[in-house]
Amino acid sequence: MKFFLDTANLEQIREGMALGIIDGVTTNPSLMAKEGIEGTEAVRAHYRRICELVQGDVSAEVLSTDYEGMIAEGAALAALDEHIVVKVPCTEAGIRAIRHFANRNISTNCTLIFSLGQAVLAAKAGASYVSPFVGRLDDISEDGVGLVASIVETFQTYGYDRNCQVLAASIRHTRHIIDCMEVGADVVTSPLKAILGLLQHPLTDKGLAQFVRDSEKLR
Ligand code: E4P
Repeated sequence: MKFFLDTANLEQIREGMALGIIDGVTTNPSLMAKEGIEGTEAVRAHYRRICELVQGDVSAEVLSTDYEGMIAEGAALAALDEHIVVKVPCTEAGIRAIRHFANRNISTNCTLIFSLGQAVLAAKAGASYVSPFVGRLDDISEDGVGLVASIVETFQTYGYDRNCQVLAASIRHTRHIIDCMEVGADVVTSPLKAILGLLQHPLTDKGLAQFVRDSEKLR
């Protein structure tokens, strides 16, 4: 089970890395824009900074939506750092681009996945990761975790799980993380707050308060 941080915020990445349990980072154009980064060079410099902080895969999304643009942009992103994973949307052009990158041993993360069929096509094209969007499906009263479960099971049936990891994305809260773990997601990407929520338990707080009180008697 891997934990990725779903952010482009350097402070949050530093804080998460200090915990020692973060395996990678995912970003998207919205998360990058939130950090106020503008222009190709600034975007690339920001990815380099993220890669300096993270000893693991860093998903960097292409902005182009056409095949030629995706492969040119993806090649430039992949050249920034060995840990860059080129993030490509699940469209016809995206599937072609994933095959192009797979043939050149460039890792990819197929994003904006909302159905089992999309996930299977991405895996078949050679994606390293598929990213089903749990929260956005829940938002429209569909079953986000159910989709993760169905992808995990189908990948096992056909052997896609040997080369393609199921990366549960669009995680909104701690319960989503637990549910995705239970259905066998390989990776969950989420804001740090939702990961830290896994630590919370009232009996831990209560037990620690008691130990702290009793420790006074030992001093
Ligand atoms: C990460 O890979 C996705 O882009 C991200 O999790 C989407 O999250 P959102 O639905 O909260 O925007």
